[in-house]
Amino acid sequence: MAAKFTPRVFSGIQPSGGLTLGNYLGAIKRWVAMQGPDFETIYCVVDLHAITVRQDPDKLRRSTHEVAAALIASGIDPEASVLFNQSQVSAHAELGWIFNCIARIGWMNRMTQFKDKAGKNAEKVSLGLYAYPALMAADILAYHATHVPVGEDQKQHVELTRDIAQKFNHDYGVDFFPITEPVIEGPATRVMNLRDGTRKMSKSGESDMERINMLDDADTIARKFKKARTDPDPLPGELEGLKDRPEARNLVDIYAGLSDRSPEAVIAEYAGAGWGRFKPALAELAVEKLVPISDEMRRMMAEPDALDALLARGAGKAEAISRPILEQVHDIVGFVRSRG
Ligand code: TYM
Repeated sequence: MAAKFTPRVFSGIQPSGGLTLGNYLGAIKRWVAMQGPDFETIYCVVDLHAITVRQDPDKLRRSTHEVAAALIASGIDPEASVLFNQSQVSAHAELGWIFNCIARIGWMNRMTQFKDKAGKNAEKVSLGLYAYPALMAADILAYHATHVPVGEDQKQHVELTRDIAQKFNHDYGVDFFPITEPVIEGPATRVMNLRDGTRKMSKSGESDMERINMLDDADTIARKFKKARTDPDPLPGELEGLKDRPEARNLVDIYAGLSDRSPEAVIAEYAGAGWGRFKPALAELAVEKLVPISDEMRRMMAEPDALDALLARGAGKAEAISRPILEQVHDIVGFVRSRG
């Protein structure tokens, strides 16, 4: 990629229901790790994305505060990073429209997440749900972001972002948008459902026992891990031995993600251990890591005005980066800037 682009990270998370351990390990923890001298970091609560499916307005407000609190409680520093909610910076929606006119219908038809979410109901879902990946490309490219840390499930959307950037650059004969790199790293890029190791852990699964929520208390976390589906065998001595054991593999990956170790190191420590030993150790580790975060989240969520003040500052900083980029897009596309 041309060196003209500042190393800049952008990522987003939807305020559409409670946050899960999947969001924490696959995204939030990685976002915290990317703060520092190597990158400018921009993190966004993507409320425009959330309304692609119906949201109750009060719940949407609450979830927005929950996500902002989770990010800060997990270690996102609102001074070191730009932290804001998407609807407050109009460049997202504006560039999203322009990208609707760049992206091809055929590209959108290939998006597996749309197919999963729409299911048999594709005629009845919102147009926004279909166009959603073009808005996500706008989120990223409105900041000329070079790196996007996400879980495995967002890979195809980041690839589409690259296609949109390339087509825009090509159609207008410019080298304007960077070709963004997805950053999908760590042992827990795809945290699976605790009751079925072949399905992703998600906010919307029907049973609460399938997932660990970031706001679960210690007893609930312990109970969910105790009841997590496993198989009768003890843990093997090598990772290879977990090949056809998705539930066992998932618990090892979660342990690795929470303890900042590799799955290989976890397996080496617990080789031969039965679930009666591994599950309580995992539960204890999860409680140790998550409960201080959820305590802090609750404290922050009780002061929504303070959170709003932080988000407002972040939105100002986000605006200052994205506005000049959008103005250049207007020039490239040929919009008359009658107001300067
Ligand atoms: P969302 O809100 O579904 O999830 C937020 C982040 O959490 C990750 N994640 C997981 N990682 C591992 N295992 C899981 N079970 C799991 N569940 C969720 C997701 O991969 C994601 O990184 N479209 C995005 C939001 C978005 C965005 C963006 C992301 C909008 N604009 C621009 C990056 C850049 C989404 O719905 O994520």
